[in-house]
Amino acid sequence: MSLKAVIRGCGMYLPEKIVSNSNEDLSKTIDTSDEWIRERTGIHERRVAAEGEYTSDLAVRAAKAALQSASLQASDIDLVIIATTTPDLTFPSTAAIVQAKLGVEQGAAFDIQAVCTGFIYALSTAEKFLICGQHKRALVIGAETFSRILDWSDRSTCVLFGDGAGAFVLEAQAEEQAENRGVIGSYLRCDGRMVDLLYVDGGVSSSQTTGHVRMQGNKVFREAVNRISQAMEHVMEEAGISVKDVDWFVPHQANERIIQGVVKKLDLRSEQVISTIAKQGNTSAASIPLAYCAGVADGRIKQGDLVLLEAMGGGLTWGAALLRA
Ligand code: UT7
Repeated sequence: MSLKAVIRGCGMYLPEKIVSNSNEDLSKTIDTSDEWIRERTGIHERRVAAEGEYTSDLAVRAAKAALQSASLQASDIDLVIIATTTPDLTFPSTAAIVQAKLGVEQGAAFDIQAVCTGFIYALSTAEKFLICGQHKRALVIGAETFSRILDWSDRSTCVLFGDGAGAFVLEAQAEEQAENRGVIGSYLRCDGRMVDLLYVDGGVSSSQTTGHVRMQGNKVFREAVNRISQAMEHVMEEAGISVKDVDWFVPHQANERIIQGVVKKLDLRSEQVISTIAKQGNTSAASIPLAYCAGVADGRIKQGDLVLLEAMGGGLTWGAALLRA
């Protein structure tokens, strides 16, 4: 029997605290301006987790919303995968912590670390666990408290990122039952030679510190549009799908100019983009499920729609995925 990994539900959570670009917030503490940030990135504001609010807390809120939208319970889940760069602890995995907080008592749980590409990696991994029949239902979560690894005095990075979490419930269904829905394909890449472009200057084994994000933003920018577009073209070609068939484009939300560059290169239309960057900034592994959920919640993404996802991040890692909602 051939199986498909179908998205049964999705959910999201954003922390309450809003940090704006304005003189009351960011422009008060660093040499920047609302105008610069909006023009160069498309970001107006971002969310920041409260003291004592951890990545696992955001993930649990998103997961509960996803379970509710799927009309399922914790006891129905046998796989929890969390894409995160900002785990609660060095170990155990944030997925293990979330599994316990949700009350999932069976199956497996683990984290995936591919920075901003993490959700594409996690989705692709979960799909393979489901279609081989090893697991039945997965929570695939992107969750980050990136605010905790920012150097708040470095204007070239601290204005870009935000906190949040988004989750999918994926279910293994027989092809006849799935009626063409589910993950169609994915394409994952990494080129570790470009680690210097985007990394954290600390770690367990090297410095025994957490470290802060360091980025040569303009160099990452130069790599982005081409690599992302190639990954999207690859995943469409493998699936025998033309860009004209795509209903919605749900990109990683790093920079509005990168998103529009990809739109132009692939001949997509701006109206097809689900963009959350203005209100959320770059939430790393959480940005794709957050944007997807926004599209579902406001009725744009409907059952049966063809959706194209992409991301690029530290590593460098990049990738794309295609699914039918
Ligand atoms: O999600 C993971 C992947 N990450 C990305 O994809 C991010 C990719 N990169 C970017 O989005 C952009 O490169 C940035 C938004 C980070 C920067 O935009 P840019 O147009 O590439 O600017 P730049 O780095 O070339 O800097 C231009 C100028 C510099 O000043 P000088 O040297 O020209 O005097 C910077 O010092 O802008 C200055 N600058 C700022 N000015 C005001 C950098 N950050 C700021 C700031 N406010 N926050």
